[in-house]
Amino acid sequence: MGGDPRLETDLSGALSDNPAQPLSGTRLCALADLADPGARGFSFRRGDSLFLGFVVRRGAGVHGFVDHCPHAGMPLALLPGRYLTGAGDLILCSNHGALFRAEDGLCVAGPCTGRRLTPWPVKVEADAVVAA
Ligand code: FES
Repeated sequence: MGGDPRLETDLSGALSDNPAQPLSGTRLCALADLADPGARGFSFRRGDSLFLGFVVRRGAGVHGFVDHCPHAGMPLALLPGRYLTGAGDLILCSNHGALFRAEDGLCVAGPCTGRRLTPWPVKVEADAVVAA
């Protein structure tokens, strides 16, 4: 048959048991490449699985999340890298406006209030952000 390969991608793999999730120690970017506050998205493919994640920097803290909104399961940013509110204090899902705390992914406003983004463990190591 051979349909559109983009439609055959396993997007359930946005979850943390995704085989495409990068291994611990995988370098994501230089810490200096992240504004403060700032955020950046990443995608990793392995076979038919696709892992989408993003990291958020606020001060000394860098937090990672699976790019999968708990409301409707969609990636959060409609524009590349646009994960934060204008003030940079909260994570924004551009689809329906949910707002999440950067430190723990708790939704504080919007259609999935009280639910959380799935954490993606990351850490800063030698001035780089790496998968933990
Ligand atoms: S998909 Fe995120 S608020 Fe609806």
